[in-house]
Amino acid sequence: MNERTLTFPSNDPVLVTCGLPYASGPMHIGHLRTYVPADVFVRLLRKMGTEVTFVCGSDTHGTPIVTAAEKAGVTPKELFEKYHQHYVDIFPRLNILFDNYGTTDDPENHHRTQEIVKELQKNGYIYSKDLESPYCDHCGRSLPDRFVRGTCPYCGADARGDECDQGCGRYLEPGEILNPRCAICGSPTRPITRKHYYFKLVAFKDFLEKYLENVEGTKNAKNYALQWVREGLKDWCITRDLDWGVRFPGDEDLTLYVWVDAPIHYISSTEEWAAKTGNPKAWERFWRPGDGKIVHYIGQDIVYHHCIFWPAMLKGSGYNLPYAIVASGMVKIQGHNFSRSRGYVVWIKEEYLDKGLSPDYLRYYMVATTGQTRDLDFSWETFQDKVNTELVGVFGNFVYRTLHFTNKHFGQVPEGELSSEIRDAIDSVIQNVIAGVNEYELKKVADDIFHLASFGNEYFQSNKPWELVKSDKEACGRVLYNSVAIVKALAVMIEPMMPSVAETIWSQLGFEPSSIHDTKLEVALDPPKVGATIQKPKPVIAKVDDDILAELKSTIEARIKKAERDETGDSEMVTVTFDDFKKMDIRAGTIVSCEKVPKTKKLLKLKVDIGSETRTIVTGLADLYKPEELEGMTALFLVNLEPKKLAGIESQGMILAIEHAEKEGHWIPITVQGVPPGSKVA
Ligand code: 2FM
Ligand code: ZN
Repeated sequence: MNERTLTFPSNDPVLVTCGLPYASGPMHIGHLRTYVPADVFVRLLRKMGTEVTFVCGSDTHGTPIVTAAEKAGVTPKELFEKYHQHYVDIFPRLNILFDNYGTTDDPENHHRTQEIVKELQKNGYIYSKDLESPYCDHCGRSLPDRFVRGTCPYCGADARGDECDQGCGRYLEPGEILNPRCAICGSPTRPITRKHYYFKLVAFKDFLEKYLENVEGTKNAKNYALQWVREGLKDWCITRDLDWGVRFPGDEDLTLYVWVDAPIHYISSTEEWAAKTGNPKAWERFWRPGDGKIVHYIGQDIVYHHCIFWPAMLKGSGYNLPYAIVASGMVKIQGHNFSRSRGYVVWIKEEYLDKGLSPDYLRYYMVATTGQTRDLDFSWETFQDKVNTELVGVFGNFVYRTLHFTNKHFGQVPEGELSSEIRDAIDSVIQNVIAGVNEYELKKVADDIFHLASFGNEYFQSNKPWELVKSDKEACGRVLYNSVAIVKALAVMIEPMMPSVAETIWSQLGFEPSSIHDTKLEVALDPPKVGATIQKPKPVIAKVDDDILAELKSTIEARIKKAERDETGDSEMVTVTFDDFKKMDIRAGTIVSCEKVPKTKKLLKLKVDIGSETRTIVTGLADLYKPEELEGMTALFLVNLEPKKLAGIESQGMILAIEHAEKEGHWIPITVQGVPPGSKVA
């Protein structure tokens, strides 16, 4: 067990990890709720003098990757390589700098995963058992995890195979989901029985309870997990009937569940880092029992996996345990739950970085807007307000007016000394920054830095250097000396949140080539050097203007509208096979008669000659067409649709119509010319 006395800064080295993004799609704003605070935390620890290693990687296995690859018509490897490269490119553009960023498909991860599973087997924590799980006869395959949808046995919501993603959020064991159906073709499934391997999670109940009572980090992680452990655990099925993934040692027809090899990448990514440093054993400092401290940054939706499965696996195979688990709240978009398929998403590359917006503004926004464990409700308006009011109006304004005035009237740091008032103000912010780090509450850090900038503005305003410069230049110099001291402290302290902005201030203060990134927190208290040149400054932060805001807002609105139009349930999972398409019997039919269905607003009853017979077909086009407009028309009809009664009339097919892209609700029958009724579409 870890000692519980550690506070940051720590003499022990710290390993910080972030939940791995699935390499199945591009980075979105939801990702940043974990990666930005983690990167800020790492930079703060380094500023406090702690030795930190920061690792992450792309999650490349499991059904999230396989289903996305099938949808894209590529192999899982092709898919993950594309998105892995995307993450490799985007993280540095956000000033998020890992010491190693690998993938779960790296040989190191296959190796480490198999080692751990073998160790668990050796220690008696793995057994085999027959499992009944769903099979789709239509698709001809087993349906692990995301290949199956059904009803959550706990809350009744529509859920996917391994997680109640639209209801209570629980992890679901294979075979647990009720009313399973194939997520690809929608067919009902039948159970098949096959031998699978289980991890004896139940054996870890007492250990987990004790561990979780002591683990550091945020309360949400700890409390939820404790509640789950106390409610009772089930043994965990760790194999899947899937080709893609890490093979189960000893039964190579099965692969390991993605949640086995994904967290193990935290270890193998550390191994990859160690190999790069030239000390291949350096990873053991964290992962073998010893003095290293592991801090996991994750999203609240994966607390179960990190607080229950993961510590039990580590304990069962003799590795070090996480010292702290920091779980962030989720991101909402304009008050709605985050959802790619419904359009409530912001894509980081196209909709932020490629628009030329500074990564630092978004970093500040992600950390300063709300507490670590609370949900963050993103909107472009609140983003603009945060940047324009706080960063430009207070922070940037103070830095600019101080440096501008000093440059104009002195050209250098004037004669002066740090007053006790200013020293105390800076010192108290440093203490609060350290407290914020120890509470894993970076909003507190952001708020305190902002207050120092505000304090600087008040100091400048109340001492009126623009009057003093005329009446008492020396007194004016003393005020500016202290103002410059605050600017310098701000540059040091804002660096973890806004590394590029801090660099600019540092160079305006003339401190280059010393790097602001390596500058320690206590340097914030070092008095500025009298006589150092102050260059003519430029504003360090620019307003987000209304034009770009309007463009960003309209992108989101258009996407939401489009998703509403396209809504077909879980469109992310539905693909149509050629076999499905072939089942549809679509024919040309001539409308021989058409009349309004009495007492209805929209229904028309058509008699349609489809070659072999004349069918009755009811359609909802009465608000758009008069019966005589349709009579005589030859259009396309789906003629093997299940018959359905509408207003008491049995409809034996459906007319195909197209919706005008710019006129919502305006349907035009798809007509054909020059073919006799009964001609088939293929
Ligand atoms: O939920 C997810 O997005 C997973 N890819 C997180 C994995 S984190 C860890 F265990 F590797
Ligand atoms: Zn549920």
